[in-house]
Amino acid sequence: MRIDLEELKSKIRPRLRPIIWRDEDNTLLLLDQRKLPFEEVYVELRDPVSTADAIRQMIVRGAPAIGITAAYGMVLAITHSNITSLNEALKELARAREVLNAARPTAHNLFWATERMYRKAEEAVHNGTARSVKELVEVLKSEAKAIFNEELEAELKMGIYGLEKINDGDTILTQCNAGGLATGTGIGTATAPIRVAHALGIKVSVIAPETRPWLQGARLTVYELMVDGIPVTLITDTAVGYVMYKGMVSSVMVGADRILRDGHVFNKIGTFKEAVIAHELGIPFYAIAPSSTFDLKSRVDDVKIEERDPDEVRKIRGVPITLENVPVFNPVFDVTPPKYITALITEKGIIYPPFDKNIPKVLNAG
Ligand code: MRU
Repeated sequence: MRIDLEELKSKIRPRLRPIIWRDEDNTLLLLDQRKLPFEEVYVELRDPVSTADAIRQMIVRGAPAIGITAAYGMVLAITHSNITSLNEALKELARAREVLNAARPTAHNLFWATERMYRKAEEAVHNGTARSVKELVEVLKSEAKAIFNEELEAELKMGIYGLEKINDGDTILTQCNAGGLATGTGIGTATAPIRVAHALGIKVSVIAPETRPWLQGARLTVYELMVDGIPVTLITDTAVGYVMYKGMVSSVMVGADRILRDGHVFNKIGTFKEAVIAHELGIPFYAIAPSSTFDLKSRVDDVKIEERDPDEVRKIRGVPITLENVPVFNPVFDVTPPKYITALITEKGIIYPPFDKNIPKVLNAG
């Protein structure tokens, strides 16, 4: 099916706007994902320290959304300060990059975005595009906007590529929230092919595991799909194997926080389990992510899997469910080895195994 990108943009109009940049007063507005689905409130940010804190507290979460937020966090490093020299501005940006990079360890998009913003600033200062701090702010604002727009375009392209993997009547199992809330655009990565199919009148539905402990599935995926009229059924994490065994799942589509050169996929805890069961039962398993999620330099053991507060497990939304002193292990990501992955879907095309050969080829990386 030949699909026009511009036409698609007019057909897919997600209601939620998780990240908004307000130009009049250089303020970043984040839809507070801790409060969804019950309240839609925005948090206003004007400096990189509170932006890093918003990422750490998961007011914003999901790899591409963290990347876009961090890009704006870099802009905020020099917008509301008294800095007058370009040299001082670069120093401030280097400090902001450090603060933002420390917010969360696993999503590659965070490091990719702060690096891209810093390089852009350096280049603008050295080649004279920015001759004052005011001009540098404008350069960085348009770079952050470019990151957002490129992400949006990438998601539509991933949606079109991913459509090849969806048949009329399919039910897709996902994990966590790899939707528009996780990317900041309202479209999403894993949900992109689903949204494209839905917009084109192809019947498709989603099974969303609740995704303990933070409940991204129950609170966010369910919410954003229901808001846009896409059929979704919520299950417990423990029902994942059963729905696959019962033949209720046509394919698995998940996002990614980081994908390595050899095809190892880091994503929300629980993804590995879905991949292994899918492999065993012959169900296709796809990870869908933009090229900014690919880390072609690190090896599996170099990547830090974030471990979060034990109370996220001991309590559900503040209510204790176990003994307050029970020891807890709370890793929030896992890693899926390439042998369980049918294909990776990116904005540059679908990548099939052998991944170590095909990832650099499709991404045009040396
Ligand atoms: O801890 P989170 O909510 O930031 O984890 C998010 C995920 O694991 C997503 O699947 C991933 O970032 C892809 S987002 C399109």
